[in-house]
Amino acid sequence: MMKHYSNRMVLIHWLTLALLVAAWFLGDSLAEATDDSNATISGYLVHGLAGGAVFLLTVARLFFRSKDGVPAPIGDSPMDKLAKGVHHLLYTVLFVLPVSGMITIVTSDAGKALLSGDASLLPKDGGYDEVFAHEAHEFMVNVLIVVVVVHVLGALKHQFIMKDGLMERMLPRRK
Ligand code: HEM
Ligand code: HEM
Repeated sequence: MMKHYSNRMVLIHWLTLALLVAAWFLGDSLAEATDDSNATISGYLVHGLAGGAVFLLTVARLFFRSKDGVPAPIGDSPMDKLAKGVHHLLYTVLFVLPVSGMITIVTSDAGKALLSGDASLLPKDGGYDEVFAHEAHEFMVNVLIVVVVVHVLGALKHQFIMKDGLMERMLPRRK
């Protein structure tokens, strides 16, 4: 029986964490630049690339998950069921968050600006007020933060209170 996640699932898990931190900071500075009405095309590109990479990695991850399988659940307690629900929520956010970002671009002036390469067309202060996908994108960022905090608290509980070695399952290992 399998005792660990496959190495490629492990790699994507931790790479996703790093990219999310980057996308979060880049998104925040992009929004600040928009409020100052001086956002740049490259600001959009680097944020979109970091976030877009999260999306592609999540698609690859679900494919590898179905090919490689996952280790058996460690138990069937209410807490174990909660953890499973949290994992489903995380996958949902990893998909919906970047997609809402892409829809923000195609349903706002940012799309025209990026297609023409003309930064003066980029949304300025208040330029996203009527863009629903932008609301959704901001909301999903907050959902992400809350759900990740719950997920990490669970991991810490396994590591330091239950001491059951669960973390090993998500760490790289030699064949
Ligand atoms: C999955 C990772 C992503 C994270 C964590 C993320 C995070 C953020 C954050 C924190 C903001 C600032 C929200 C605010 O305070 O107004 C933001 C804004 C934005 N993001 Fe993302 N984002 C992600 C993916 C994407 C993708 C893939 C795209 C598009 C290709 C995108 C496009 C945008 C746009 C257009 C804005 C609005 C910028 C502005 O208000 O000036 N995001 N994002
Ligand atoms: C310091 C941060 C993190 C720690 C310590 C951590 C730890 C873990 C551990 C130990 C597991 C394996 C659980 C098991 O074997 O049942 C796991 C699974 C998982 N983690 Fe994290 N994680 C972190 C951050 C994140 C982030 C930022 C995300 C995505 C937003 C994430 C998404 C997931 C998902 C979706 C699974 C389930 C994998 C599957 O069964 O397909 N994790 N995490």
